[in-house]
Amino acid sequence: MRIMDELYRELILDHYKNPRNFGTLKDASSVAEDSNPLCGDEIKIGINVKAGKIADVKYVCSGCAISTASASMLSELAMGRSLEEVRRLGKGAVLGMLNINPGPSRVKCALLPLKALKLAVYKYLGIDFKGTLDNP
Ligand code: FES
Repeated sequence: MRIMDELYRELILDHYKNPRNFGTLKDASSVAEDSNPLCGDEIKIGINVKAGKIADVKYVCSGCAISTASASMLSELAMGRSLEEVRRLGKGAVLGMLNINPGPSRVKCALLPLKALKLAVYKYLGIDFKGTLDNP
C-alpha cells in the first residue's frame, strides 16, 4: 500500500511541477474563475466547445500542489468529454484521480478546479450553477 501511496504522491508532484494544459485559450467558448476562500488562491479556466464536447481546456491558477495537480488531471479528464459528462463529474472523480482523502481544509484545494470547470460549462449552457459538485 505504501508503494501505491508513494506513486500517487509522485504523480501529484509531477502534475504540480509540469501542469498539463496550463495557459489561456484564445477565443474560448466560456471562461470562469473561482477562488478558495480559505487561502485566496485562484483559478481561471477556459473551455472551447465543439459539437457539444470539450474540444480544448486551459487554465491559469495560483494554488498549492493539490489544487494545481487537480486542475492538471481534470483538464486531461475533461478533454473530449461531452458537456453532460462534465456536468456529472463529482467530488469522487476528482478525489479518486488524486487518490487522496484530504481533510476539510484541503478538500477545497482539490475541488476548486472542478467547481471552476463546472462554472464554465454552466455559463456556456446558460444555466445557473447552484454550487453542487455532485449533481448536474
Ligand atoms: Fe490554496 Fe490549496 S492552499 S488552493
